[in-house]
Amino acid sequence: MQQIAFAAFVALSIAGVVSGLDNGLSLTPPMGWLAWERFRCITNCTLYPDDCISDKLFRTMADLLVSQGYAAVGYDYINIDDCWLSKERDANGRLQADPERFPYGIKDLAAYVHSKGLKFGIYEDFGNFTCAGYPGVIDNLKLDAETFASWDVDYVKLDGCYAELVDMETGYPEFGFHMNQTGRPMVYSCSWPAYQTEKGIDPNYTVLAQHCNLWRNYDDIQDSYASLRHILDYFGQKQDDMGPFAGPGHWNDPDMLLIGNYGLSLDQSKLQMALWAILAAPLFMSTDLRTIRPEHKEILQNTRIIAIDQDPLGIQGRIVYNVSKIEIWTRKITPVEGDQYSFAIAVASRRDDGYPYRIQVPLKDIGLTNPAGYMVQDLYGDETETLLVPESLIDVRVNPSGTVFWRANIVVSTPSVTKIK
Ligand code: GLA
Repeated sequence: MQQIAFAAFVALSIAGVVSGLDNGLSLTPPMGWLAWERFRCITNCTLYPDDCISDKLFRTMADLLVSQGYAAVGYDYINIDDCWLSKERDANGRLQADPERFPYGIKDLAAYVHSKGLKFGIYEDFGNFTCAGYPGVIDNLKLDAETFASWDVDYVKLDGCYAELVDMETGYPEFGFHMNQTGRPMVYSCSWPAYQTEKGIDPNYTVLAQHCNLWRNYDDIQDSYASLRHILDYFGQKQDDMGPFAGPGHWNDPDMLLIGNYGLSLDQSKLQMALWAILAAPLFMSTDLRTIRPEHKEILQNTRIIAIDQDPLGIQGRIVYNVSKIEIWTRKITPVEGDQYSFAIAVASRRDDGYPYRIQVPLKDIGLTNPAGYMVQDLYGDETETLLVPESLIDVRVNPSGTVFWRANIVVSTPSVTKIK
């Protein structure tokens, strides 16, 4: 019966009659905390009681998300990644959490997260196993979607290890279909394009945007500036292919924020936050909120930058200038007047010659042509606004591997007054 229902769904969605996803979620990029980048697959709670993937870790991070002000600025998901599962399904074939590390089960943990006013996300894998070798969903799509709904899960990341590439374009939508059939709204994060690009296949973004709220386009982020640049370069090179498919309810995902960890300098941390906002990226921190430094917290909680990321138009930004190892990325944002947009502008340096490098570029050369100009504000500075017109120069000094990040709100020209004789 379910097979027939799914076949009908596939036929209708090909005909454009139903939207595969249509869950009304993630109208702006999701924000929250995700375990993987920082806590990986640490499962030895005897040796590492504070770091292991366990009930305690997620409750602690949920507490801190609220008490340290992250939830108030928009970070509202607490998401488990790999290594939460028991290696065996239960007697009824259902997924179960590792009983020692999650002694109260996932439903209880989700209830705790909800009691803090947050939402709860989980991880699984479309294949036979998760990337770390725990049971995957491949033969149990319907049952596992129902299990997640019964645990009151709000978000599912479905990875793609140990799966056949050819199965993904139909298999991921099928899991999404079963998620929708549960009646519980759950954000759907798909990983299949990352597995396609790994094999040199260009993802079909039309299908992705129809079936997933977000999708990992490319390689995993690692705790280094080199990894960050590697992903940014890919997003720049492929911006014409992927950019148009970002929008309310469906986002490209360059992976987690590294801010607060070991690999980025302060300037590089500011760069990641700015560029992720330009890309309309999901903002998932993956850091230890117990020990994060105040300057990193300040970057993560910069509400003016978060507002760029969460701009309601959901238009993904682009790299528009690249000279002398200085890049300029812009993103169209609100407010809009006629065909004139406001902009976020990130000047990003990939130089390493030790001093803040000066660049001068007229606004009109990077697409800012509103005749009455823009009120411009430095998003890492104070709230002073300066009027710049299209002929004005962006005239800034950028630190090596750092950024200068601006918001430019359009100025609406006053309508000319008609004289009455
Ligand atoms: C893959 C994903 C990562 C993470 C790990 C977990 O590598 O891309 O984001 O989920 O698996 O094993």
